[in-house]
Amino acid sequence: MDRRKKIYLGTNTKMYKTTAQTVAFLKRLNQLTKDISRDRMELFVIPSYPSLAAARESVPRQSVSLGAQNMAWEEEGQFTGEISPLMLQEAGVDLVMVGHSERRHVFRETNEEENKKVLCALKAGLSPLLCVGETAGEKGFGIAEEVIRTQLKIGLYGVMPCEARKIRIAYEPVWAIGVNGEPASKEYADQIHTVIRRTLTELFGAEAGGDVPVLYGGSVNPQNAEELIWMPGIDGLFIGRSAWDADNFNAVIRKVLPVFEEKRAGEGAE
Ligand code: PGA
Repeated sequence: MDRRKKIYLGTNTKMYKTTAQTVAFLKRLNQLTKDISRDRMELFVIPSYPSLAAARESVPRQSVSLGAQNMAWEEEGQFTGEISPLMLQEAGVDLVMVGHSERRHVFRETNEEENKKVLCALKAGLSPLLCVGETAGEKGFGIAEEVIRTQLKIGLYGVMPCEARKIRIAYEPVWAIGVNGEPASKEYADQIHTVIRRTLTELFGAEAGGDVPVLYGGSVNPQNAEELIWMPGIDGLFIGRSAWDADNFNAVIRKVLPVFEEKRAGEGAE
């Protein structure tokens, strides 16, 4: 895999959209983007658990990858209310989000728990999308980089370099997410992406660590998407509210794709 060859674009629909709404959204998104070769773009949607099977039926796997919003860290057992990676596999899921800010902060998940989920997802052949991000308080104390490095080093502990190609990282500062969020500036986002890349190469070596896609998320919108994707360290965008309407998501895709490709062409020319 060469992460530089394509852009990574996805959305997590959180606890919104019924199964019928998810299916309608996916069909429309697939229809609107069918002219874009998937060699140029990895497109993924992370809907609610109950909609996953119907979602998988509604659009081809090669066009839209599906993710789950969370997962247990065991394949089976006495874990009432939890969802196993085997159940996700059966539903046709490709990736699983681990450690979204709302899991860490509303449900108090720890780095050690995220690590167990990452390892369990890999064992089941799923791609973990590990989300990392500092709170406003941590940023205020000047420890954002330490927090991110800690989340990565614990979250990815025990992952082998040969498994790294399955991993995706989303940098989502907690203060940037959701209706009260303030998007990160492009300079700040890129600075943290550089720290993430350095940490990944430290963990997996230059080749495998250099190949893990790192996406930015947190109040991405039609106004800031282009300037964010232009930054050298940003491989893709992980979008919430601005992507929940298929037409709006398609509009963002159309804006960022040429900017991304121009950026990569410029890098190639250097
Ligand atoms: P937002 O959500 O784009 O609505 O801020 C981002 C996220 O939670 O992943």
